Amino acid sequence: IKAAVLEALRSGYRHIDCAAIYGNEKEIGDALGEAFREGIVKREDIFVTSKLWNSQHRPADVPVALRQTLADLRLDYLDLYLMHWPLAFRSGVRDRDERTGRVALAPGVEVEDTWRAMEDLAVGPSPLTRAVGVSNFGVPLLERLAKSARVPIAVNQVEMHPYLPQYDLLAYCNGHNIVVTAYSPLGSAGDGSAALLADPVVTGIAARAGRTPAQVLVAWAVQRGTVVIPKSAKPERIRQNFDLSPLDDADFEALNSLHKTTARRFVNPVGIWGINAFADEKL
Ligand code: A2P
Repeated sequence: IKAAVLEALRSGYRHIDCAAIYGNEKEIGDALGEAFREGIVKREDIFVTSKLWNSQHRPADVPVALRQTLADLRLDYLDLYLMHWPLAFRSGVRDRDERTGRVALAPGVEVEDTWRAMEDLAVGPSPLTRAVGVSNFGVPLLERLAKSARVPIAVNQVEMHPYLPQYDLLAYCNGHNIVVTAYSPLGSAGDGSAALLADPVVTGIAARAGRTPAQVLVAWAVQRGTVVIPKSAKPERIRQNFDLSPLDDADFEALNSLHKTTARRFVNPVGIWGINAFADEKL
């Protein structure tokens, strides 16, 4: 990860998307330290996001979690701190309960409680994070949280690609000043199936435009106005995913319609934790 972050910064990336649960924030801190020392970037040139893990939703745990992330990243502040999932795990819980097949949730810890603790970290003269947001939230949950939020919900980071374009969610966020960040924009190629990267519509556009399928998918995400975070550990792909050119209208429209033939969510909490966090969504 250290090499990947340094390669990304040298290639021109300025947004580093982290999370406590990824277990690599110390190594990212090493990379950032080196990048600052070598003058590749200054702190104020980059935008660093991290995420609160599900087992630290209790309000008293939230500042502890953010301070740990900052210590690991060796930063004084984050640009953005996200609630990783709208799920409060019982503290210490890492996996499913073998008896129930579900992860044990913390009783009585609501997203509003966690959000209020996050807000406290984003206010004052030198806040620990400049903005707060959420991840994996659908429209009903955003509407619910907005009722009690005092600090704006800056961002909603969700899985988004042509098989899961989430038009309703995007329209809601656009209408409420919530920036949408698209994760797994390549259709989570990491799961081995690489279905989206191999889709004939995507590969056809790529062949005609002289681009790679990944470049086509990242360009689509940019063109529809989302922030996009393609992830790769390979230097050549890191550079490739940053080197984009716009899609022409017909290709953009073809990708906009792809979900009509294939609709798929790759990151599904039912499979991971036995809990349907998207009960309110169509997919
Ligand atoms: P790798 O790191 O080996 O390049 P996620 O859905 O979690 O964001 O994962 C993205 C996956 O897509 C990673 O496994 C990454 O693998 C792969 N990937 C990233 N960039 C490209 C690319 N340009 N072409 C093909 N696969 C890619």
